[in-house]
Amino acid sequence: MGLYEATWGRAFAATYDRGLKATEEAGLGQMRAELLAGAAGGTIELGAGTGVNLDLYPEAVSELALVEPGPHMAKRLRARVAASSREAQIIEAPAERLPFESAGFDTAVTTLVLCTVPDPVAAVAELSRVLRPGGKLLFIEHVRAEDAGGAAWQDRLELPWRFFADGCHCNRDTLATLAASSFEIGEVERGRTPKAPPIVRPLIRGSARLKI
Ligand SMILES: C[S@@+](CC[C@H](N)C(=O)[O-])C[C@H]1O[C@@H](n2cnc3c(N)ncnc32)[C@H](O)[C@@H]1O
Repeated sequence: MGLYEATWGRAFAATYDRGLKATEEAGLGQMRAELLAGAAGGTIELGAGTGVNLDLYPEAVSELALVEPGPHMAKRLRARVAASSREAQIIEAPAERLPFESAGFDTAVTTLVLCTVPDPVAAVAELSRVLRPGGKLLFIEHVRAEDAGGAAWQDRLELPWRFFADGCHCNRDTLATLAASSFEIGEVERGRTPKAPPIVRPLIRGSARLKI
């Protein structure tokens, strides 16, 4: 484990839930619940973090695989799963190399993750491999601002923010990444991350289907 991971990475995971509390209460939690109501069947979540989504999955989810490569996040995730009535498998692997056979899942979920994975194109390609044709991707992601001024600030502050926020790239155009992939984008709502710094406010939430 590197110095960053052993120090700031550990602190980031330890304070993650507290740091997001106001944002969750001001609307993100509600957005998560609405999004996850659409999950069904075998479901895979990338970058599950501390497991904020765990108890929001509906009964229609038959099996749940939570992918989380960060050791400090994974530790908290294991504790959350152990305390929950929702059964889930935890896989400590990167989204770019998923240890699953092809076409095995019905639903995939990413919330605030495609900003952080080192290679979002590879992660989305892996999702399209492990989902069955026609399978559903549900996402909430903060993204690149649509206005030039906002995007310029995201570009300027990308490096210090990435250091502060455990690898998060505040300026990623995740919708463009999805649009260039094997997914067909469905309904997408553009909104704002409540009670968040301006550079991580622009938000998209919606779904996409793996092209058949
Ligand atoms: C901002 S947190 C989001 C956590 C959670 N999904 C949520 O909605 O609160 C980003 C997560 O992505 C994880 N992550 C970083 N690199 C990753 C990778 N290559 N594959 C999968 N997850 C990754 C981090 O460890 C962290 O848990």
